[in-house]
Amino acid sequence: MKARETNAPKPAPTRLTPPERELVAAAKKARLRAHAHQSQFKVGAAARYGNEIVLGCNVESDVYGLTNCAERTAVFAAHASGVARKGLRMIAVIADSPDPVSPCGACRQVLFEQGGPDLRVIMCNTHGDVRVMTLAELLPGGFRLPRTQQRSTTTTTRTPTLRR
Ligand code: THU
Repeated sequence: MKARETNAPKPAPTRLTPPERELVAAAKKARLRAHAHQSQFKVGAAARYGNEIVLGCNVESDVYGLTNCAERTAVFAAHASGVARKGLRMIAVIADSPDPVSPCGACRQVLFEQGGPDLRVIMCNTHGDVRVMTLAELLPGGFRLPRTQQRSTTTTTRTPTLRR
């Protein structure tokens, strides 16, 4: 077996519920679709909205900074396919990493906005290690626009009144 490349303590085994295990299996499947020609680091994610599971994978660009992480791909796909209104309840993410893969700062912010502080984040690696944390634990004090600044989708998509 390959030696662990980290000094971090091995995470304690985590018991997952059947819906959580289903989400991890879906994330594993999504990882196979990763477009990771720059880093070769393939990541899969699966987000649960009600009873629906939306998949995401990392999509890299020749212009490195344009890469999109697996977690945000899943969230954006949920919006595009119309299931995001059901509310994000849980997300699983998986990679071939020594420790369960942990969402980057940008993804934590987006997940905070989408799922709130209680969102369950199931972090996994392909060796079977799992770590579950809430978004509040991953991102204490995440940013939200003040309520007065938030615009509902209906407001932004309303046809503007023409001025004569
Ligand atoms: N990546 C993800 O997709 N999710 C994470 O949680 C960590 C990093 C991707 C971005 C990039 O394609 C590759 O992993 C290496 O950073």
